[in-house]
Amino acid sequence: MFPYKDASLTVAERVRDLLSRMTLEEKAGQLNQLPTRDERLQARIAAGELGSVLFADSAFAGNDKQARVMVGQVNELQKLAVEGSRLGIPLICARDVIHGHTTVAPIPLGQAATWNPPLAKGAQENAARECSADGIRWAFSPMMDIARDPRWGRIAEGFGEDPYLASAFAAASVRGFQSDALPPEERVAACAKHYVGYGAAEGGRDYNTTEITPTTMWNTYLPPFKAAVEAGAMTIMSAFHEVDGIPLAAHKHWLNTVLREHLGFTGAVVTDWGSIYQLIPHGVAGDDAEAALLAILAGNDMDMCTELFYRNLPTLVRTGKLPLAVLDTAVARLLTVKFTLGLFESPYTDPARAARVQSIPAHREAALHFARQSLVLLQNRNNVLPIKEPNTGILLCGPMADMRGILHGTWCLDGDERHTTTLKEAMERLKPEAFKLTHVGLIDDAVKLARWNNTCVIALGESSGRSGEDNCTTTLELPAGQIEQVAAIHAMGIPIIAIVFCGRALALERLCQLADTVIIAWHPGTAGGIPAAEAVYGLLNPSGKLPVTFPRNSGQVPLYYNHKPTGRPVPTKNRYHSRYIDALDSPLFPFGYGMSLTTFAFTALEVDKSSAKVGETINVSVTVTNTGDRTGDTVAQLYLRDPVATISRPVRELKGFRRITLSPGESQTVTFPIGPEELGFYTADGIWCVEPGLFQVWVGDSSEAPLSTQVTLVPATTV
Ligand code: NOJ
Repeated sequence: MFPYKDASLTVAERVRDLLSRMTLEEKAGQLNQLPTRDERLQARIAAGELGSVLFADSAFAGNDKQARVMVGQVNELQKLAVEGSRLGIPLICARDVIHGHTTVAPIPLGQAATWNPPLAKGAQENAARECSADGIRWAFSPMMDIARDPRWGRIAEGFGEDPYLASAFAAASVRGFQSDALPPEERVAACAKHYVGYGAAEGGRDYNTTEITPTTMWNTYLPPFKAAVEAGAMTIMSAFHEVDGIPLAAHKHWLNTVLREHLGFTGAVVTDWGSIYQLIPHGVAGDDAEAALLAILAGNDMDMCTELFYRNLPTLVRTGKLPLAVLDTAVARLLTVKFTLGLFESPYTDPARAARVQSIPAHREAALHFARQSLVLLQNRNNVLPIKEPNTGILLCGPMADMRGILHGTWCLDGDERHTTTLKEAMERLKPEAFKLTHVGLIDDAVKLARWNNTCVIALGESSGRSGEDNCTTTLELPAGQIEQVAAIHAMGIPIIAIVFCGRALALERLCQLADTVIIAWHPGTAGGIPAAEAVYGLLNPSGKLPVTFPRNSGQVPLYYNHKPTGRPVPTKNRYHSRYIDALDSPLFPFGYGMSLTTFAFTALEVDKSSAKVGETINVSVTVTNTGDRTGDTVAQLYLRDPVATISRPVRELKGFRRITLSPGESQTVTFPIGPEELGFYTADGIWCVEPGLFQVWVGDSSEAPLSTQVTLVPATTV
């Protein structure tokens, strides 16, 4: 037996032995990934010249309906690799398992609205259990691109606009896929993507050029990746776009220097689909060979779907253009992932396992719990929510009222719709005896029936096909015709509860004028319409908080809470300040905002010391009291500002949060530590520094929380 097959050796020893036995073609083949539809697949596998299969029928899996991944097909391909190729190196089978597999969690933007990262860990553990049962051991998730422009369709796939919140979710998601709590054969390699700055696409147009300064990169776009690396992410995906004229697929500085040397990432980097070829149209490579050379020298290890590594790397080594050591390092990284996942010992998946784990009640219950916490109540005029007796006649209408599959959201390849409930079904099922529910599809019927009902529940929003990859919009208004439908009902004079299913922040000013109550339900996944229906009947007290600013209108974006101060901060009345002349300066709803059916008071903001040395930690505490008459959850949020620093710092930055449950009258003291991690920032050169001076502190339930105090840092050497 060759030593690399001996499981008692260390992974490093096995990798070394295997590398020493591989031909150049086999090495380049390990860096080669092809999609299932590719006709070269079988031949490459049998020749030992394919490292990974991407289970996707097209390059547009987020938009195209995909064939369900079949464990039989996975095992067949694996057999060809393990038993049919010279060295028997198993494949690593990959898929876009983004926010669930057969059981679907809310879209990541909705997940972030829970401000409860442990739920993301649990959801990705369940996704890993389900997709590994289908033979998928590599998930292209989590996506952690900070997005400040909701026109960008992919904002749905990430955790919103804030690096601190996104970092917490990024780390939790990685820990879920790769969880120690799972048996080894159920663990899935996470893939933190899209490294880095992809969310800054100019104009919110996908794949577009970005203009990102080094300090913005370090302080805004990089932190979630740092968190993912610290959480042990086994792989990272380099992004499509360019920064400073260099596409990320060829960006030595951000890949080799920053990701590997600075962040200490030791795993494997996969390109995005076609990225190596795209170096040619990007205008930085003249031909295929040059593109392959640039990509491998920059620090990419696996080529997603271009075959340019496979076709060019052996010759590049033979002609002395590529050092063999660079190729060997890339191969070693991918082999390390395979050995670590135990693929050499257990390459096959037991088909019986799928039946035991797919869409099981425990996974569905967890997805429902997650979706419940993601519901954000934006307004509730006259306490129309929940509907109460004697207003028992409910009219349900709107284009989203009886939708099922699209409630799963973007990038849902294997979601099992049989367990997904439409809003109409949920409202019928949960309806209290005394209530009467009438659902109509057409708005003219709804207008007619409004007269005989007490409250209208109108389900609005975006199709899943209007968010995700390549689904960018010039407007953040509701899709065509929806606001007119609300206006027509409004004209009949009955209270309106609007439930908005969406994958981005929308401009809802007009809706908020017409509807009394507005709930953001995101694309909730398998839970479908259940959480919203529960809220309508008062069975659920909404508790989600916005992970992204909701602007008043489309022209305001990019609009995000943690912006820089400018030399002309905006006063209410004066002219010649950084503002528009045709809209208010403020957002419609700020980051961190979300109402409850109860009320909370934040009092007694205290610091354990008002001054500390650089390097020390100060504890900030606040008392939160439920001042209403229902049990509810809120999220205590801590924001900081360094008002005078060597580079200007944002007007506020989230640096701590805690979700708590309080019954009526109950109080809880929440304490946040603020130390060097919270008080520092990166310079343009990536140096972390904490500067002495005064810091402002706010604690409350949104990024506009008024309750504040301040602390002072003195130099470490001062007594
Ligand atoms: C392109 C997308 O940008 C990426 O997120 C996805 O993982 C790959 N295609 C594979 O489908």
